Amino acid sequence: MNDFLASEQLAGVIQAAYIIAGVLFIFALAGLSKHETAKRGNLFGMAGMGLALVATIVLVAKNSTGAGQRPLAVTLALIVVAMAIGGAIGAWRARTVEMTGMPELVAMLHSFVGVAAVLVGYNSYLEPGLENTGSLASIHSAEVFLGVFIGAVTFTGSIVAYLKLSAKMKSSPLVLPQRHKLNAAILLVSAVLLVWFMGNHESSAIIPLLIMTALALFLGFHLVAAIGGGDMPVVVSMLNSYSGWAAAAAGFMLNNDLLIITGSLVGASGAILSYIMCKAMNRSFFSVIAGGFGSDGAVSGEVKDYGDHRETTAAEVAEMLSNAHSVVITPGYGMAVAQAQYPVAEMTAKLRARGVNVRFGIHPVAGRLPGHMNVLLAEAKVPYDIVLEMDEINEDFPETDVVLVIGANDTVNPAAYDDPSSPIAGMPVLEVWKAHEVVIFKRSMATGYAGVQNPLFFKDNSMMLFGDAKERVDDIVRALG
Ligand code: TAP
Repeated sequence: MNDFLASEQLAGVIQAAYIIAGVLFIFALAGLSKHETAKRGNLFGMAGMGLALVATIVLVAKNSTGAGQRPLAVTLALIVVAMAIGGAIGAWRARTVEMTGMPELVAMLHSFVGVAAVLVGYNSYLEPGLENTGSLASIHSAEVFLGVFIGAVTFTGSIVAYLKLSAKMKSSPLVLPQRHKLNAAILLVSAVLLVWFMGNHESSAIIPLLIMTALALFLGFHLVAAIGGGDMPVVVSMLNSYSGWAAAAAGFMLNNDLLIITGSLVGASGAILSYIMCKAMNRSFFSVIAGGFGSDGAVSGEVKDYGDHRETTAAEVAEMLSNAHSVVITPGYGMAVAQAQYPVAEMTAKLRARGVNVRFGIHPVAGRLPGHMNVLLAEAKVPYDIVLEMDEINEDFPETDVVLVIGANDTVNPAAYDDPSSPIAGMPVLEVWKAHEVVIFKRSMATGYAGVQNPLFFKDNSMMLFGDAKERVDDIVRALG
């Protein structure tokens, strides 16, 4: 058994398994880029991760065959116990999490990657391994330092994102005096600490590492705390990217090629997603990664008087829909909260059966996760070809008879165009007010995620249909008969 584990052939098989797993992860990402292939993409990812786990366990077994190592059975038992505990907690969370709780869960999971990179970094510093001597020692020191830095920023940044997304912390930006200079100073001091750390091979080298860890933990907290309501979607994808780079850094420290490949895939795809979201929200990528740089962080607290709003009933809306030729539904976070996607799909099917042209307009940051609305509508089996992106539908609103705004608020707020002092100023929105009639489904006149009032509710062609979105859509389905 020990001869087999120590053999060169086994090392080759493990490398081959890692390459196959890496290719499966690339297929997974490619699959996830379209609804039609997303399920297949997930299966590729699961197969890749399964293979990677088996190959890594075999690698650990192989590495524990040398003299002076702990017995193989003990190593394997430790791995099995850790995986059983982690797997049980993961399975329980995955089964119990509500779709509305997904963003916080994802933010929380990113924090685990961050803390793992920090722990791997300290472990790798305290037990550098025999191969890390001479010039390799310097490279190893740099890997440890950068890995701990990225991991610590990811850790606290993700915790703050979790707290903001779960409304346990105020979503408005934290504006400390001289905050950009503070961030720059932390980077500068960290660079000096890196030089100190790399030039010092005594046990005191842990001092710069510890100071940098404390600074990086603060930087992660500060970068995300400084970002306000409307820009949070970019933060979520940005932390996704950071968690990938933290994993890649851990891969360098552990000499694990697969972790480097996987981390880079996550890091790069998260960065591309952040860039796409910044473009969709008309924000500069740099300003968001630098923690709200370029904005003064102000949130307009001014309460304006927009006049009165009109109310309507489900029966009236059903009547309006029956007489319409063209209907556009723009869902938002409230549809996810109410779990209204199933009656919405039923209502859509009924209207389409009567010859009404029903389509969906999806804002890139509707809901709380990239693609949140698309996932819900796909779950309720709404045909993909009637689910359009904001850019594809915005020009059609003037020819639309009825728009149903179901639990959306910030993403249909005309103040983004009309009010330069608004925190969502400049963000492209769904121009629903250009349609003939607009019905807004929500429970009250409360604001949306960005905390600003919506002048749409007070326009002459707008009507409020108050109540839980699922109950109201159910009422409409019944009234349609
Ligand atoms: P929001 O602006 O969040 O507004 C949702 C509306 O749904 C609220 O005004 C709420 O009004 C209503 N609502 C809540 N529960 C409801 C229920 N059971 N029935 C009916 N209505 C209900 O939604 P949005 O337009 O989707 O905008 C998304 C916002 O989240 C943007 O500001 C975006 O930047 C931010 N964000 C997005 C993401 C991603 S990646 N998508 C991540 C983080 C943050 P009532 O309370 O009056 O019912």
